[in-house]
Amino acid sequence: MATWAMASHGRWAWLTVALTLTILAPSPTVGIFLQGTETSYARFPKWDACTNATFSFEFRTTQSEGLLMYADDGGRFDFFQQMMHTGGRIRLILNIVNGRDGRVQIDVGRSVNDGHWHRVVIRRHRMETTLLVDGVSDSRSSFGSDFNFGNTESNSEMFIGGLPNEMHDNIHQLALPSALYKTRFRGSIRNVIYGNCTCQRTRGRMIEGVGVTVRPREACDVRDPCRRGCLCVSGDTEPTCDCTELKCVTGECVGVFIFRP
Ligand SMILES: *[C@@H]1O[C@H](CO)[C@@H](O)[C@H](O)[C@H]1NC(C)=O
Ligand SMILES: *[C@@H]1O[C@H](CO)[C@@H](O)[C@H](O)[C@H]1NC(C)=O
Repeated sequence: MATWAMASHGRWAWLTVALTLTILAPSPTVGIFLQGTETSYARFPKWDACTNATFSFEFRTTQSEGLLMYADDGGRFDFFQQMMHTGGRIRLILNIVNGRDGRVQIDVGRSVNDGHWHRVVIRRHRMETTLLVDGVSDSRSSFGSDFNFGNTESNSEMFIGGLPNEMHDNIHQLALPSALYKTRFRGSIRNVIYGNCTCQRTRGRMIEGVGVTVRPREACDVRDPCRRGCLCVSGDTEPTCDCTELKCVTGECVGVFIFRP
């Protein structure tokens, strides 16, 4: 009897310890999950993609083809379209000059559809645009006379993973209508960060989405412990603060891209 009582007590003690650890252990965080259905997309704020702007985010997927992001000038010439194509490689197609023949295509690297987090960055520097995928980069220059990306009034918002199906009714408002017919992205997104025409980076929050789940939330949305001037970066369980100081050197923000996913 006494032995049973002790054993039973011991079992309860372990259960209590296990429960306490479960409560204290950080819960896994994810971010935004897009279901990749025929209607899914996430809408983010506009990107002021002027000649010194940056835009970056992290994604995780096993899909081999899909639209990652799209933004345009409301239907004239300018657009940015980033996607995964043939075997999960990243391609950026853009036009920042006034004219249909100003298109530039940048392909970077190996397949990234391995179910791990990857980070893509688009960085502008006057006529040159750079695409970085996990720190591996390639650049292309645009040729023309005007390198401004539309104008902030009439530009579209930033779409991630697909475009709203309502746009079928207003296809002339798309500078690259084929974006509407791309395979939608199925996977997770986190750390959507804007360099909005300045060297200062800000986190972008989803405005609205279809076919999207937002829980478990990414670490920086649960808790942002960073002091002013520092950028919160979500890790798998915890946020970290990136306090890199960014300086503008001949129109380019320097010190930005030291990042390890
Ligand atoms: C970037 O700038 C545009 C245009 O001024 C603004 O509409 C948008 O909200 C900004 N984005 C963020 C993430 O602050
Ligand atoms: C970025 O470009 C805008 C206009 O295109 C300019 O007003 C701003 O000063 C530039 N910022 C830096 C840090 O170069």
